[in-house]
Amino acid sequence: MGKKTLLQVVGLTTYFFAFARTRIVKAVDNVSFEVNIGDRLALIGESGCGKSTVAASILRVLPPSGETVSGKILFEGEDLLPKSNKEMTQVRGRKIAMILQDPMMSLDPVFTIGEQIGETLEQHTSLRGDSLIQRIKELLLAVQIPEPERRIKQWPHEMSGGMRQRIVGSIAISCEPKLLICDEATTNLDVTIQLQYLNLLKDLQKNTGVTLVFITHNLGIVAELCEYVIVMYAGKIVERAPVMDVFDSPAHPYTKALLDAAFGLQDLRKRRPIPGEPPNLANLPPGCSFNPRCMDADDRCRKEEPPEVTLAPARSAKCWYPVKA
Ligand SMILES: Nc1ncnc2c1ncn2[C@@H]1O[C@H](COP(=O)(O)OP(=O)(O)OP(=O)(O)O)[C@@H](O)[C@H]1O
Ligand SMILES: [Mg+2]
Repeated sequence: MGKKTLLQVVGLTTYFFAFARTRIVKAVDNVSFEVNIGDRLALIGESGCGKSTVAASILRVLPPSGETVSGKILFEGEDLLPKSNKEMTQVRGRKIAMILQDPMMSLDPVFTIGEQIGETLEQHTSLRGDSLIQRIKELLLAVQIPEPERRIKQWPHEMSGGMRQRIVGSIAISCEPKLLICDEATTNLDVTIQLQYLNLLKDLQKNTGVTLVFITHNLGIVAELCEYVIVMYAGKIVERAPVMDVFDSPAHPYTKALLDAAFGLQDLRKRRPIPGEPPNLANLPPGCSFNPRCMDADDRCRKEEPPEVTLAPARSAKCWYPVKA
């Protein structure tokens, strides 16, 4: 049985314009990928590589200086880019929900928990009165918050960080979205909160079967939660693969460097930071964007942009010399 495509991003190109458009930051450059119904896809890469810009482009919530200059975002076959803002309000929260891993920012301190969950439901469903309250309680129980009766009247500041995260999760799933995009901030949260976050996402996914695009720096979570991985570098996709292939045999030198930096986890002595820094997205080097930091780069890498090489089904690397497993 073939899987059904839910989201198809085609040639997405989003720039930030500064100084009266004289400086162009190519945050996302010709990015294409597909997500099938039920998939759990991870988007990884160093800070500033364009992950959040991909998410913001899909939901059309870019800051004013950002603009999607070309591409298509087909959601259930329909392009979201030409949609009006009014039409997009029917997509956001209802069909595609986003969880930002910053529960203090995502909850409004002046509204009770019940009011905040209720707001999304009122916007997108016909639930009112008792049936609305009933649904809010169900949602709280669904994210393992006991005593919903009491919690519903509480304020965000009365809850622990982990609980606030669960509330944000309950709002995200409240209208049974088809796609959930989780964008984890760069900041290192403490380990307990990380673990609670992982468990929350696991539960949500298991209980609702929601399709997941998971943006993270935490490769441990990727291994636990996701089936497919897309690696971004300097606004482009450099590798895509089923999750175990990425960990077992990274094909792109950047992916390998990223893993070496993270997975000294088992052996701290083996942990090696990636030398150098990501390039300036307003002034990319010629050839492969990774060439200045790549140990294996040669003349061709410094001159010509590499093609995306297909290595196996659902497996590719944008490199002149991808490592074949
Ligand atoms: N409002 C903005 N104005 C100008 N440039 C921006 C803006 N927001 C992001 N950028 C630039 O776009 C690029 C991609 O940023 P983005 O936030 O998508 O990266 P990211 O992969 O999500 O990083 P992180 O892991 O730190 O969240 C960066 O170079 C960033 O400086
Ligand atoms: Mg980000």
